[in-house]
Amino acid sequence: MRLTGKVALVTGASQGIGRAIAERFAREGADIVVNYRSGPAMAADVVAIARGLGVRAEAIQADVSSVDAVRALVDQAVAVMGRVDVLVNNAGVETHAPFWDVAESDYDKVLDVNLKGAFFATQAVVRHLRATGRTGRIVNISSVHEELPFPNFAAYCASKGALKMLTRNLAVELGPLGITINNVAPGAIVTPINTALLNDAAKLRSLTEQIPLARLGTTDDVAGVATFLASDEAAYVTGSTYVVDGGLTWYYQEQ
Ligand code: BGC
Repeated sequence: MRLTGKVALVTGASQGIGRAIAERFAREGADIVVNYRSGPAMAADVVAIARGLGVRAEAIQADVSSVDAVRALVDQAVAVMGRVDVLVNNAGVETHAPFWDVAESDYDKVLDVNLKGAFFATQAVVRHLRATGRTGRIVNISSVHEELPFPNFAAYCASKGALKMLTRNLAVELGPLGITINNVAPGAIVTPINTALLNDAAKLRSLTEQIPLARLGTTDDVAGVATFLASDEAAYVTGSTYVVDGGLTWYYQEQ
């Protein structure tokens, strides 16, 4: 077990990649705080699974797009678990529209969850670690779109590109505190964020043809890398992005 004795807070952990990470961390011995925005029943399922694995687990509701809510989330996690050692900034949303039609409300939603939420959750955890004189781990679930354009998802790409630079900047700022920060950049993974794509057979086929490993990824494919980054094995890794995309990023085929 690679995370025994650690307390991990995973945002957006009631479904998709966040849920897989919470369950994997629990299997590796970590106590888990399962943050969710909506869907208390799904969060309760994750908590039950984690407890069944013999670790402590609690669900805490919070919408990470609000800075006050994020601070309350971290305070509550510390109050319930005694401390937080690992933060996984996983909560994320995307909206689809041509650039010229993007509404301010969609821009705000995407940037507030994907970037502001991660920024201030990290700040709250860093303040807690500094105050208690402990080291820690931050793992951001970014996207291949921190690097790759994604037409009709301009706000999403802006949020993930910013997350890449935030991670590089904080690697430098937090290194002296013994806090590492890294990104995982999933490609096309089977999760609820992709429901529209998963229900469109033609789009799905054409996407799969662009993936050298010839399949979409699973949430477990991502959870494995997040576990490594949270574990002692990754002690000397900071400021990096680990791409988990079946080779999608580097596949270019001239038509
Ligand atoms: C997006 C998905 C997309 C995938 C590959 C992810 O970051 O959330 O909608 O299918 O990247 O392009």
